[in-house]
Amino acid sequence: MDVKVTDIADTPTGFIDDVIEGLSKKPKTLPCKYFYDETGSKLFEDICDVQEYYITRTEIKLLEKIKFELSDMIGKKAVIIEPGAGAGRKIQNLLETLDSPSTYVPIDISADFLFYSAEKIKHKFPDVNIMPIQGDFTESIRWQGNQEQRNRVVFFPGSTIGNFTPQQAESFLKNQVKLVGSQGALLIGVDLVKSNERLEAAYNDKQGVTAQFNKNLLTRINTELGGNFDLQQFSHHAFFNEEKSRIEMHLKSDKQQSIKINQQIFKFEEGENIHTENSYKYSINSFIQLAKKAGLKSQKYWVDESNLFSIHFLTP
Ligand code: AVJ
Repeated sequence: MDVKVTDIADTPTGFIDDVIEGLSKKPKTLPCKYFYDETGSKLFEDICDVQEYYITRTEIKLLEKIKFELSDMIGKKAVIIEPGAGAGRKIQNLLETLDSPSTYVPIDISADFLFYSAEKIKHKFPDVNIMPIQGDFTESIRWQGNQEQRNRVVFFPGSTIGNFTPQQAESFLKNQVKLVGSQGALLIGVDLVKSNERLEAAYNDKQGVTAQFNKNLLTRINTELGGNFDLQQFSHHAFFNEEKSRIEMHLKSDKQQSIKINQQIFKFEEGENIHTENSYKYSINSFIQLAKKAGLKSQKYWVDESNLFSIHFLTP
C-alpha cells in the first residue's frame, strides 16, 4: 500500500470520556459519531437500502442527473476533499465524471475505512493522487495540502451536515472555506423539510434496522468499555421535532435500572432517554441563509422531482 495516511486532525477525546460525560448529563446524551464502528457502518449501509429511507437513493439519482453540469462547474484538475468519506460510494461516480481530477483527500476517523477506500480508488483511478487524512472531521482539520492549492472542492454528501446544530454547521462550513481557499467550492447534500410522516418513517423503518443501528451504541459500550447494558431493556425512539426542525433519535430506558461502565454507575428512570442523534432538516432558503453566514454564496442548487433532497454548490 503506497498511500500514506496523515493524522493531523486535532486530537479527539476518547470514547470512554465522551460516554461518561454524555451519560452524566441531564438529559443524557451520546455522540452520534460513535455509531460507525464496523457493525454500525454495515448497519448504516443497510439503512440506505430500506424502503423508507429515501435519502441515499434520492441523492445518488440526483447526482447522476447533474454530474455533467457539475463537472463543467468544477473544471479541470480538481482536488476533491471528502470529510467522513467512509466506504466512499458516491465519490467514484464524481471522479469518473470530472475532467482529469488531480487529487482525492478522504478524511475519516477510521483508518480501516481510509485504507479500504484509498485502495479501491487507487485501483480504479490510477491517475488520481490519494492523500488520506485520519481524523475526526467534526474537529477542525489543519491540513494545508502540500502541492495543489487550486480548485479544491469539499464534497460532503448524504446530509451528514444535518448531524450538526445550525451553529456547529456554520462553524464547520467556515472551516471548510479555510480548507478550500478563496478559489475553491463546496458541494453539499442537504435533506429537506417534508411531512412528519415521511420523515419519521425514514427513521423508524419497519424492519427495525435503524433501531439496531441506534442500539449498536450500547453494544459498543458493552464490548469496548465493559458496560452492562441489557439491550432488551432499551427501545429505539425517533421523532421529528418541528420547532427545531430536526429528527431526534433516542434510546429509552423501559424500566428503572442502573448501568455500570468501568466501575461507574449510571441510574435510569423508567422512560428516561439517551439522546443519540440529531438530523436537522432544512428548506432551500434556510440552508442558503446558513451558508451565507459562513461566508458562502449559493452558485446553484438542485432538487429531485419529489422535493425530498437538495444538492448545493457554494463558493466563498
Ligand atoms: C448519515 C447522518 C445522514 O441523519 O439520516 C440514518 C444517519 N441515522 N438513520 C441521517 C442516520 C439514522 C444519517 N446521516
